[in-house]
Amino acid sequence: MENENIYPIQLLSRQDKEALLHQRGIMIWMTGLSGSGKSTVAVGVERELHRRGILCRILDGDNIRAGINSNLGFSAEDRRENIRRIAEIGKLFVDTGIVTIACFVSPTAELRELARNIIGEKDFREVYIATPLDECERRDVKGLYARARRGEVKDFTGISAPFEAPTHPVLSLDTSLMTLQEEVEAVVELITRR
Ligand code: ADX
Repeated sequence: MENENIYPIQLLSRQDKEALLHQRGIMIWMTGLSGSGKSTVAVGVERELHRRGILCRILDGDNIRAGINSNLGFSAEDRRENIRRIAEIGKLFVDTGIVTIACFVSPTAELRELARNIIGEKDFREVYIATPLDECERRDVKGLYARARRGEVKDFTGISAPFEAPTHPVLSLDTSLMTLQEEVEAVVELITRR
């Protein structure tokens, strides 16, 4: 038949999808202690982007550790596999032209480097939610710091497992010093300035 080949087997490109959406894909990689405010900032950014007609996807513990990574704990190996899978999934979103925000402790430079290498330097923005440990512990939203201090949670980041602060984040936000609106504006600016 004449029009047998109207759909040649070739994937549409990232550029095709970005043109469809009128936006460009990017990964905002939020790192910081448990309770530092990563997800709160991400939700604020998502709402503001949505208001501006920009499609956004948040990846966080609720949708990743509860689902695809439910078999992983907090050993160094499991955290590595957690971050590796998140980066691979995130890359699919970025390659679809979506503004993607990952909110994971990702406690070491090595883990963040792994994510950066998977996603690619040009699409990766490291944002440090730099709320100090004592403030995260004072908030203790999930009660985990108290439990970690009592020795009931092992390998707890900041208490009994390391957290290495990023040395060159593109943005550093201390939620004990800024308002949520200021933080959201700073991240949105980072996304839209391109
Ligand atoms: S990561 O280190 O592998 O990047 P991830 O961000 O997925 O961590 O999960 C961290 C969240 O899991 C924390 O905010 C906290 O609610 C919970 N959690 C439970 N046990 C631990 C632990 N031992 N260390 C850090 N976070 C933990």
